[in-house]
Amino acid sequence: MKAQLLSRINDRSATVGVVGLGYVGLPLAMEFAKAGFHVIGYDVSERVCKLLTRGESHIQDVPASDVAAMVKAGRFEATTDESALGRCDAISIAVPTPLSKTRDPDMRFVQAATEAIARNAHPGMLAVLESTTYPGTTREVMQPKLVERGLTVGKDVFLAFSPERVDPGNPKYHTKNTPKVVGGMTAACTEVAVALYSSCIDTIVPVSTTEAAELVKLLENTFRSVNIGLVNEMAIICEKLGVNVWEVIEAAATKPFGFMKFTPGPGIGGHCIPLDPHYLAWKMRTLNYKTRFIDLASEINSEMPAVVVEKISIALNDDRKAVNGSRIIVVGVAYKKDIDDMRESPALDVIRLLEERGAEVVHHDPFIPRFRDGDHDESGGERRERIGVDLTAAELGNADAVVIVTDHSQIDYQQIVDDAVLVIDTRNATAKTSRGRARVVSLAADPRPAASAVVGGSTRAKTAVG
Ligand SMILES: NC(=O)c1ccc[n+]([C@@H]2O[C@H](COP(=O)([O-])OP(=O)(O)OC[C@H]3O[C@@H](n4cnc5c(N)ncnc54)[C@H](O)[C@@H]3O)[C@@H](O)[C@H]2O)c1
Repeated sequence: MKAQLLSRINDRSATVGVVGLGYVGLPLAMEFAKAGFHVIGYDVSERVCKLLTRGESHIQDVPASDVAAMVKAGRFEATTDESALGRCDAISIAVPTPLSKTRDPDMRFVQAATEAIARNAHPGMLAVLESTTYPGTTREVMQPKLVERGLTVGKDVFLAFSPERVDPGNPKYHTKNTPKVVGGMTAACTEVAVALYSSCIDTIVPVSTTEAAELVKLLENTFRSVNIGLVNEMAIICEKLGVNVWEVIEAAATKPFGFMKFTPGPGIGGHCIPLDPHYLAWKMRTLNYKTRFIDLASEINSEMPAVVVEKISIALNDDRKAVNGSRIIVVGVAYKKDIDDMRESPALDVIRLLEERGAEVVHHDPFIPRFRDGDHDESGGERRERIGVDLTAAELGNADAVVIVTDHSQIDYQQIVDDAVLVIDTRNATAKTSRGRARVVSLAADPRPAASAVVGGSTRAKTAVG
């Protein structure tokens, strides 16, 4: 079985399946197709499959021209028909792994995808899970479903875990040139999975078990979460000390060894950093161990939107204004710069907290001109559609405050500083602007003194508190 599959991978006669055609699955499907395989993309979303079949793309990092070319060449098909998986020799799974309302792993998508594969499995097939998950998932959740069908893993079928590391919007690193970790259930499983990914990814890093591969991803994302939590706390520390946090970080980053730069901000977002560490925390709770670093980082990071709103409230107060009734423009609602993804975005929390205090909030985001409440979080309630405003001189001038939540590259920060009255900059996006009309308040310690002098008799705006 193994030799046959290896030979089909090597001569590209293997058919490769990708289950879940989202941010992770579609770029991967394109790489396999470009490597010369026939690729079947299976997704439960009719809308996604229809769009891809028309040669369009719903993922910012995948040009529609790539999809159209692969469809036209007959190398890529997208379908909602799970029986198509029966035609595949190797299948990668990239379905969502969200958290439940109680912040426990929600394994429904992985289970459903595994069941679909198991129903269509045949001897000689390889299945690789890519979704971020807790250590033990491949062995405990996936393997039994194949065994139930009478298939022996490592002999009849091959099973592995290979974490996806895609970084949406990253201009330098994409699927092909980001090294890929692979861990199989057996040595034979690792061997065939390595062969599959070597066909389209430059560097493969084999590890000894599926658990090791699962934990690699969780270490990477926990590392980010903990370090972001650390710099967010540093921002709070700097504010209390009256020190400019950005200056401290930039200077520390000149150390050529032993320091890695992370920057503070309004909180963490996206499908990975806020969620993945909880998968590990949950797993360790089942082993009666409390993951203290994960819990603390999560606590600090999730408090940041409230820190930002408190800062807005203090800055408005300095202008003798209340949050209640103020018109506030939130600039950037995506969870990070230069992408159109607002899942778990801290901007949603900032908007909600401001509106709870009675503010009139509008947004501007070149990547997200409009969105509907509740589409990107579990908030429920009224699903109001929000249409973004243009950053005209009149719009900026009429706002009581402008809050920079996401520092998209294409926004004219000089114009914001020139035309607004008050700017709360949570990303240091205005650092390179020259002084304008606005009083600019930084997340921690205003880098420049207030332009509009004394406010309400308070020394706050003139000192480093910002
Ligand atoms: N987005 C990222 O930057 C990123 C980075 C690294 C890892 N990951 C991980 O990769 C996994 C996928 O994330 P994503 O961002 O691509 O998700 P996504 O929501 O963009 O895409 C998932 C796709 O899977 C489909 N799907 C759901 N259930 C299915 C099923 N049973 N069968 C077939 N298709 C199904 C959905 O319709 C959707 O199109 C997650 O575990 C995530 O944590 C994401």
